[in-house]
Amino acid sequence: FAIFILIARAQAQNYDEAKVPAYTLPDVLKTSDGQLVKNKPDWEKKRRPEVLTLFENNIYGQMPKTFDNLTYKVTNEVKDAMNGKAHLKEVTITVTKGNKSADIHLVLFTPNHVKKPVPAFLLINNRGKENTDPTRATKSEFWPAETVIESGYAVAAFHVSDGAPDNKNTYQDGILRLYPEQLETDNGMKAIGAWAWTASRVLDYFQKDKNIDAKKVFVVGHSRGGKAALWAGVQDQRFAMVFSNCSGNTGAALARRRFGETITRINTSFPHWFTNNYKKYNDNEAALPVDQHMLIALIAPRPVYATNATKDLWADPKGTYLSLINAQPVYALYKKPSGLSPEPPAINTAIINSILGYHNREGIHNLTTFDWQNFIRFANYHYPKKG
Ligand code: GCU
Repeated sequence: FAIFILIARAQAQNYDEAKVPAYTLPDVLKTSDGQLVKNKPDWEKKRRPEVLTLFENNIYGQMPKTFDNLTYKVTNEVKDAMNGKAHLKEVTITVTKGNKSADIHLVLFTPNHVKKPVPAFLLINNRGKENTDPTRATKSEFWPAETVIESGYAVAAFHVSDGAPDNKNTYQDGILRLYPEQLETDNGMKAIGAWAWTASRVLDYFQKDKNIDAKKVFVVGHSRGGKAALWAGVQDQRFAMVFSNCSGNTGAALARRRFGETITRINTSFPHWFTNNYKKYNDNEAALPVDQHMLIALIAPRPVYATNATKDLWADPKGTYLSLINAQPVYALYKKPSGLSPEPPAINTAIINSILGYHNREGIHNLTTFDWQNFIRFANYHYPKKG
């Protein structure tokens, strides 16, 4: 009987395009009182705040913005790291509220021999801490710091556990200790919100680091980290650009397609990621007042790059591309058409010269050098280096 249930659950995940249900996406440009948004001011003053609140209340939770103090301490510094090519700083950022505080541990390499301040890539690291080894004894495609440095950008990372341990029993032990009231409410922030909040505090620090151009900080995340990166870019308009790698369900992929991971599955496996309210949409996607194309639209007019991998159908490559396509009307209000074709590009073909970038890499669910090389190309396109 148990085996039967397991099989039934496994079959409930659809990987067949022919079985994607008919669906209608909520109109990103139509206000709750039925008006059609036709220009930038109406989007920014009426519809954007409305859509943002819908995402907060139903999915990612509130984003507390107040704290008493943010201080930082450089705990390790190597001026000639990477054979003299980079300056390493390990920084502990401490956020205090009342009698409580939380520490964020940042690893940051800044390129030497380039004009300062420099733009920076910030990774929300949801995998092992060895991926961002400051000694560089361990190197990983997940955070190819040397490649980013060679391209003239700073590269930084923090681990998700500083924001919220990725565990349903202990996620409260990170920054949520500063905001216990969030745990009492059905639209309270949980782990994904906490990771996005943490990315913003790193950006606060960047504003104080004279070597970093805080107006050009690009937030990057893979999978669950890619969901948080999108939410960070939405919540904090100081992020110049978002890279969301294989972020799938409740990331860059449309929920209503029910292709691969579904809302029921994500809420069941990871009850500590999203609001209690989100559980109302288990097997009930049509009732959601939003879909993920609207999350991308909230980042407009800033560039967004989303990726997938061919063997990662769980994260719905096609549904990700369709999110970008359906976010275009908001970019058009800013006269930033993306010119995406209705069909996704060929495998391993990156769309770079566009406000909305995309590729579907051959291979498995991962963050790789191929992905990063295209992130760098996309950054170069949007922020060409002068001189
Ligand atoms: C699981 C989860 C996904 C998530 C992924 C990851 O597969 O279902 O939603 O993106 O883990 O973070 O690698």
